[in-house]
Amino acid sequence: MTEASLLKQALRSVVAGQVKAAADPHRPGWHLAPPVGLLNDPNGFIQHNGRFHLFYQWNPLACAHGAKFWGHWSSVDLLHWRHEPLALAPVEAYESHGCYSGSAVVDNGQLTLIYTGNVKYADGSRTAFQCLARENADGEFDKIGPVLDLPAGYTGHVRDPKVWQHGGHWHMVLGAQDLSLQGKVLLLRSADLLTWQSQGEIAGSGLNGLGEFGYMWECPDLFSLSGSDVLICCPQGLPAEADRYLNTFQSGYFVGQLDYDQGQFVHGDFHELDLGFEFYAPQTTQSADGRRLLIGWMGIPDGDEFYQPTVAQGWIHTMTCPRELTLESGKVIQRPARELQQLRGEVQQWQGIAQDAPVWDVTRAEVEVETDRPFVADFGGDLVLTWDGEWLRLTRQNRRSGEPEQRVWRGALRQLTALCDSSSVEIFINGGEAVMSSRYFPVLPIPLTFSGKQPIALRHWPLSDCVIE
Ligand code: FRU
Repeated sequence: MTEASLLKQALRSVVAGQVKAAADPHRPGWHLAPPVGLLNDPNGFIQHNGRFHLFYQWNPLACAHGAKFWGHWSSVDLLHWRHEPLALAPVEAYESHGCYSGSAVVDNGQLTLIYTGNVKYADGSRTAFQCLARENADGEFDKIGPVLDLPAGYTGHVRDPKVWQHGGHWHMVLGAQDLSLQGKVLLLRSADLLTWQSQGEIAGSGLNGLGEFGYMWECPDLFSLSGSDVLICCPQGLPAEADRYLNTFQSGYFVGQLDYDQGQFVHGDFHELDLGFEFYAPQTTQSADGRRLLIGWMGIPDGDEFYQPTVAQGWIHTMTCPRELTLESGKVIQRPARELQQLRGEVQQWQGIAQDAPVWDVTRAEVEVETDRPFVADFGGDLVLTWDGEWLRLTRQNRRSGEPEQRVWRGALRQLTALCDSSSVEIFINGGEAVMSSRYFPVLPIPLTFSGKQPIALRHWPLSDCVIE
C-alpha cells in the first residue's frame, strides 16, 4: 500500500471514531490514550530543546494488534500534551508488518528515531530490520531505512532498539530470541548510528547465572542510576509462581555493572517493576534536570485485553503516569513524577477507624493512606485492595471468565498512594518500593469505600484533567 492511501485510511478512522472515543466516560482525564484504535508501547521518550516527546505504538485502524504506526505527542511539562504529526507509517518493504518499538536520540541537534521494521512472510516466517528516521523542518520524520539486518544466530524476533550515548559512542540494546528459543539482550556499538558492531549478549535466559528465563525478551532499556547500571527488559515465558510473574508477560529489571568495552554485564536478580494487572514495555529517558523518568504501557499483550469495554467505543489502552526512578539499597524506587502534583485540587484529610472514613469520589483523584494496620479499600465495587498485615492484595473479576483474580505484594506496609483516573489505579507502596498498576471499568463516579476496625490516616486530592491539544 502506498503511504498516501495508508494515511487516508488512518485519517478516516480518526475522523469517524474520535467523537465516540472522546465521549467514553472511561477515557482517562490525565493519562495518555489513543484518539482511536489500539495503543501499546511507549517509544522514543526523550526531552529535546525543553520539550518532551513521547511516541507510541499505534494501530489507528482497529482495536487490534497489527502493522503498527508511531503516533507522536509532545509536552513541555509532562502534563499538557499536544498531538504532533504522525511520525511513522508502515509502508516500506522493510517494515511491511509494522514500525515496531524503538527509541529516540538527538544526533547533531536532530531528533532521530531508531525502530524495528517488522516483516512477516507468507510461509509464517519473519525477519526484522533496525531502521533510522530523522526529523525534518516540518516536524515530520524522513526514513533513512535499515541500518542493521537480522544478526546471525537469532530467529526473526530481534527488536525494540534502545540507543544511548556513552564514552563517545552510541550503544544499542536489542531484545532477541536465539536459535534455541532463549530470550536474550544484545549490545551493539556505533560511531554514527549507521553502522553497528555487535558486542554480544549481555543478559538473557541461561546467561550470568540465570537458569531458563523465557523464550523472548522484549523492550530492553539500559541506563545508569546512582553509579549502577540498570537493565530493564520484558521476558516472555516465565512460569507463574504463587506471588510473582502472575501476568502473561513480565516486565522487570536487573541491577549490575556494564563493562562497555568487554560487553559484559554482571548483574543481580530479576525484580518485577510493577505487580499490578496491567503494565508492560516501559521506556525511560533522562530529563534535562537529571531525573530518570519512566513511562509504561498500562496493558499486557494477551487475549484478555480485548474484553475491555472501551473496545466498543473504538479505543483501547493507556500509558501509565510518568514516574521518577531512583536506586535505593539496590532496588529501583518509582515515584509519580513531581509535575503531577500540579494537578491536585484542595486536600481533604481524615484520621480514624477505617470503616468510619468518608466515602470519597476517586474518579480522578490521588489518595494517600498511612497505616500498618489491616484495612480494605473498595474502588467502586470493581477493584478491591486488601491489606491483612502481611499481604497486600488487589482483586477484581476477570473480564473474560468472570472469576476473581488477584495480584499481590508482601512486605511491611506503612504508606501508599493511589493515583486514580476513570479506568485506572496506580498504587505506589511505601513511597515507591513497589507499584501495582491496573485498569478497571466501574460505573462513574467512582466511590472509594474503606472498611476495617483499625486506625487509618487518609488524604484525598481531586485531580484536574490534562489537556491534550
Ligand atoms: C511489546 C511489543 C514489542 C514490539 C511491539 C509491537 O509490547 O511486542 O516487542 O516492538 O510491541 O507493537
